[in-house]
Amino acid sequence: MARERIVSAAEQAADAEQAAGALRPGRIDEYVGQRDLVERVRIAIEAARARSEPMEHVLLHGPPGLGKTTLAHVIAAEMGTRAYVTSGPALTKAADLIGTLTKMQANDVLFIDEIHRLPTAVEEYIYPAMEDFRIDFTVDSGMHSKVVTIGLRPFTLIGATTRAGLLTQALRTRFGISHNLGYYPVDELMTIVARAARLLGMPELPAPTLRAVSERSRGTPRVALRLLRRVRDFSQVRAKGSLASRVVDDALALEGVDALGLDELDRRYMRTLATTYGGGPAGIEAIAASVGEDSQTLEDVVEPFLLQAGFLARTRQGRRLTDAAFRHLGIEPPPREGALYE
Ligand SMILES: Nc1ncnc2c1ncn2[C@@H]1O[C@H](COP(=O)(O)OP(=O)(O)O)[C@@H](O)[C@H]1O
Ligand SMILES: [Mg+2]
Repeated sequence: MARERIVSAAEQAADAEQAAGALRPGRIDEYVGQRDLVERVRIAIEAARARSEPMEHVLLHGPPGLGKTTLAHVIAAEMGTRAYVTSGPALTKAADLIGTLTKMQANDVLFIDEIHRLPTAVEEYIYPAMEDFRIDFTVDSGMHSKVVTIGLRPFTLIGATTRAGLLTQALRTRFGISHNLGYYPVDELMTIVARAARLLGMPELPAPTLRAVSERSRGTPRVALRLLRRVRDFSQVRAKGSLASRVVDDALALEGVDALGLDELDRRYMRTLATTYGGGPAGIEAIAASVGEDSQTLEDVVEPFLLQAGFLARTRQGRRLTDAAFRHLGIEPPPREGALYE
């Protein structure tokens, strides 16, 4: 997508800078929320450390911006080892993978982001590496070919993906821990924003301000931190340093972000479905053509949050806008004649 949306969960250049800095939690005690996952990880780390073994392989799946990369680094820190970071699309050749694995020390972490995009030819080397800490590769071909085995030091593979469904069964079953990260409730986002504000050297934020930022963050820490930075700039330049919740409203209204964290593209999608298609049901291709966006973009970056917020329903006949969405747009919902028969 060409345009960078402030409420997009995808990582943007400014986020990477901030992530590299002090905002990303370094230790497990600083990692907010995802309680079940954190508990599983704590137990696995403690057990592994007691046995002087690497932690189990972990698969983290869920929407972008929810803390998968952060947790991989946290696990390495808690294990007292290093994290090697790569990604599915970056590992184009088996040699790239082998090079990294042979460099790693005992109990280090290999983090593979977007692991669903790992090339098949590389994936095959991962299986014995994960299971038996060895790599088998064939030298020469035809009659003189032979298999050479390289032993590896024990390591932990942490895979992250937004599309767990695209993983092969063979790969998925090789992870000891597989966990789906969910969206964060507002109170947890408030904790994350308060901590980030402290680290950014901002004065303590009043609770209504923390709430105002968090409620617009679509359940996503990455979005919350980005909104916080915009609010900080606006406060400094346009509001004499005030951090009242009204400043959040003004700062984010300027960005086209409304009280629920919807932006112009979300509203355009909803208005199109409301007015052009009478609330639906309508097919995604038709909606995309009317909105003037590509359908994959709408499916990836607009619909998940509208579904989660209860503004959109996906039915067999197509997308349908809910009454709550009509109310949010300030448009009278149409009478639902067929409602009884749905
Ligand atoms: N549980 C959490 N507690 C505190 N901050 C978090 C948490 N999860 C994510 N963050 C913040 O949000 C940002 C995005 O998280 P990241 O790990 O990059 O997400 P993902 O890899 O899932 O896309 C991080 O830089 C971090 O500062
Ligand atoms: Mg990530």
